[in-house]
Amino acid sequence: MHEVVKTGDGSSTLYNAEVGECYHSKHGALTESKYVFLHKGLEHYLEMSGSKSARVLEVGFGTGLNALLTLDYALENQMNLVFESMEAFPLKKEQFLGTGYERFVSNAVWEAVTNGYEKLLAGQQVQVGPGVSLSVFVGKLLDYSTDENFDVIYFDAFAGIHQPEMWTKESLEMATRYLVSGGVFTTYAITGQLKRTMQELGFDIDKQPGAPGKREMLRALKK
Ligand SMILES: C[S@@+](CC[C@H](N)C(=O)[O-])C[C@H]1O[C@@H](n2cnc3c(N)ncnc32)[C@H](O)[C@@H]1O
Repeated sequence: MHEVVKTGDGSSTLYNAEVGECYHSKHGALTESKYVFLHKGLEHYLEMSGSKSARVLEVGFGTGLNALLTLDYALENQMNLVFESMEAFPLKKEQFLGTGYERFVSNAVWEAVTNGYEKLLAGQQVQVGPGVSLSVFVGKLLDYSTDENFDVIYFDAFAGIHQPEMWTKESLEMATRYLVSGGVFTTYAITGQLKRTMQELGFDIDKQPGAPGKREMLRALKK
């Protein structure tokens, strides 16, 4: 069961009744997605590296909001982007279409992703624009493997109270093993345990102010 819920900034998210949680913050789905992932993650990497291209790996494709905004950013800024996400329980296309996210991205991005939705779920890459692609691994994080390397990790699992198995050292190790040295890990959450685990995995902690409704969030940089 997935119910469309309006969040604090007027954008929608979905409530997943089985998990007991929304896909994005009730304080503002669009604001959280732009701030935690695009701004603190991708933009930070681009500033630090001086690069005009990036490879992003996301844990949790969900409603696709982080992906859509990032693809849109890449087209607008004429950068090269490989965006790979993973999702164990993909939404049906009608649910994806019901989010209203076409309001936040260009027609080119919305049409490429909606027209390519079935292809994405079948494991095929979708070309969103010149040098900009999206793919989704349909499966669980612990079953994911790739030959690619990534510059940025968007770690967007449901909260630890609902899905503690996503925040274990084993899961975080799986998510970050393909991240290059100097790469950026970003997530909306922060706990003492998460910081310790990330340090054990070879990261410098770079604590940041949180999105609305959260005092802090974790960004971590791979040594
Ligand atoms: C917070 S939501 C992601 C929100 C998404 N990034 C967006 O922009 O809408 C977490 C997602 O992780 C997915 N998930 C749960 N367990 C997973 C697993 N073991 N491996 C990969 N994805 C998983 C859930 O189905 C859900 O879609």
